[in-house]
Amino acid sequence: MITHPTGLYPGMHAGYVAGNVPKFKKIVDAVHKYDAKIFVQFSHMGNQTKSWETSRPTWASSNVPDLTVGEVPKALTLEEIKELEDSFVQSAVTTMQAGLDGLEIKVAHDGILGQFVSLTKNKRTDEYGGSLENNVRIVVEILKALRERMDDVPIGVRLCINRYVQGDYGVNEALVYAKLIAAVADYISIDSGTWESIDMLVPSMNVPQGFMLQDIARIKKETGAVIIGNGRIVWPAMAEQALEDGTCDLVGMARALIADPFWAKKAKAGKADEIRGCLGCNQKCMGLLLQHLGCRQQEGDRQECSGDGQ
Ligand SMILES: Cc1cc2nc3c(=O)[nH]c(=O)nc-3n(C[C@H](O)[C@H](O)[C@H](O)COP(=O)(O)O)c2cc1C
Ligand code: SF4
Repeated sequence: MITHPTGLYPGMHAGYVAGNVPKFKKIVDAVHKYDAKIFVQFSHMGNQTKSWETSRPTWASSNVPDLTVGEVPKALTLEEIKELEDSFVQSAVTTMQAGLDGLEIKVAHDGILGQFVSLTKNKRTDEYGGSLENNVRIVVEILKALRERMDDVPIGVRLCINRYVQGDYGVNEALVYAKLIAAVADYISIDSGTWESIDMLVPSMNVPQGFMLQDIARIKKETGAVIIGNGRIVWPAMAEQALEDGTCDLVGMARALIADPFWAKKAKAGKADEIRGCLGCNQKCMGLLLQHLGCRQQEGDRQECSGDGQ
């Protein structure tokens, strides 16, 4: 969900538009019908927006373009930083009216907050750049402002612990960010990669399953935060092990659940061998991104899926 008109991106919704709430509520109600929880994730696409799509200047931490987009953005003034921070709060207040169970701030992968914590994108010399503490200041300020407005809502952060871009941060720096974030957020969902290192954002079959678990365990141990571990976790045994040995408190997965929407049901029933495993091929989930959500593994039987787990 996008928080400000300067940060819009095709396929993403405006969280600040009150008229959207009934549409979001339909999704929330559909999820709650199955006794599941649903969180919303807020972002602003920063230097990955295109001014010819938004008809506004493109905002970012500094005037450094994203290599996949190529447009030179406008570095935010201090007043615009306050406006951006406020947009997260206003969007949260608006969107939460749809009955969501919690919210997440996106610092990972793409978007303007990632561009503040990035060592290659943030070239600021004021209090919002120049050191790890300064780079993450905007995130901490947004979290504090959100907490003031909504004390009873779980508030989390999606954070990359390695941007896998030459000159950008890795796990050691991420640990500093995680400690500062953990002081104000309820949980941290750990991931990796950016659009410029998409091979590590949605790692393919060439990357070992659970490749981040060792680093995730370190972040968990040194921050004591509630941690969601992600990254090519495909099978219940690995997820169970990560929980058992205290690597993380919850396990997150994206493509494993796209490949088999009944993953959790089968795992719970002890039928792991019936799970249709994600190959890490990226052919249809990423390959058809912004068109429709598909999976190479579901070809041919998509029409036959009855929706009841059979
Ligand atoms: C189709 C698709 C859409 C995604 N959209 C988001 C998103 O909106 N926000 C986000 O934080 N991550 C997003 N991701 C990244 C996933 O959350 C996840 O971190 C990544 O796919 C690696 O985990 P996995 O191996 O479990 O798929 C997306 C991934 C895919 C495949
Ligand atoms: S297309 Fe299916 S099997 Fe391939 S990576 Fe995406 S979810 Fe996994």
